[in-house]
Amino acid sequence: MEQTGKNEKVSRSRIHKYTFPVEEKLLAKFSISELAANSVTDFDLFTKINDTWFLYASSGYFWRSNEISRLKKYGIHFFHYSTTEQKRVETYRALGTLELGAKLDPGLSVEERLRFLMQKSAGLTELLFTCSLGPSFIIHAKQIVNDLLQMLLEDEPVLVHMKDLSVGSSYFNEHGFKVAAFALTLAIKLTLRDPAHLLQIGLGALLHDVGQVQFGKEMLFRPAKLDLDETKRMIKHPIYGALELEQFHVDFITAQIVQQHHERLDGSGYPQGMQRYEILPEVVVVMIADIYDGLVSSRPYQDKVNHSQAIDALRSKYQKKIDQDFVRAASEVFP
Ligand SMILES: [Fe+2]
Repeated sequence: MEQTGKNEKVSRSRIHKYTFPVEEKLLAKFSISELAANSVTDFDLFTKINDTWFLYASSGYFWRSNEISRLKKYGIHFFHYSTTEQKRVETYRALGTLELGAKLDPGLSVEERLRFLMQKSAGLTELLFTCSLGPSFIIHAKQIVNDLLQMLLEDEPVLVHMKDLSVGSSYFNEHGFKVAAFALTLAIKLTLRDPAHLLQIGLGALLHDVGQVQFGKEMLFRPAKLDLDETKRMIKHPIYGALELEQFHVDFITAQIVQQHHERLDGSGYPQGMQRYEILPEVVVVMIADIYDGLVSSRPYQDKVNHSQAIDALRSKYQKKIDQDFVRAASEVFP
């Protein structure tokens, strides 16, 4: 027996007798100290009371800080998980090492707060190269977007710092956060004010290129353009990203941003060659932010351009591809 009678009291209302035979040899320990407040474990956690296995928390369980404290108080120090779910457990553990639960300190300067958020965002993105996307990832991503959004809604001069902001990570890891800042600024300029709606746009912007991760760093970070075969594979990344996010039930707007961000209003985009009427205006907002950040950032095979050159490109090269009223609004708020 691993838990005391006292422990039973704290968990009795929640635990369920496990009705399938538990393969004890497949179980491994999971320490309570590894649980983070406001996180989700996407694997089953078992406990043994009086020689009987119980399912304490099924996959998808949301952990509140008071429950974690209560478990510790009652002397419950660990659960067990099935090693068949090892990969999910490793992802959860890796997220824990990033200390993503740390709160944004309102006493910091605007630049320091943005650096803090970009650090989190780049850390999350980097993790995707070794771990699979999980529900805790989405929760952390939403928190980053929410903190950024609050700064923008309080009229903090976010974009003043954004163009040159870097935390020493790769262009790929920092790009999502910058696109979220540009997209949310443009959305607010276009008079969108509903925080829930803006959060959906910001999350789509932050995660728009998540489907590229599966191509690996060797292909993504190589200082050269992709060859024909790689390009054919790469143009499917919006579909891969949307499919990956589908399993976490992200909202419609977020999913559509990920899926449509390379479509263009004149039908020249990819992967589906959608027409103007099929593309959501929220997607066009992110499209402009994505193109703009790509133009004003240095990349191995491309020199960066300044603000007016980027806006000129959005007006000329992209004249029929993106909404020019939105470009006008962007020209007034982008740095
Ligand atoms: Fe993309």
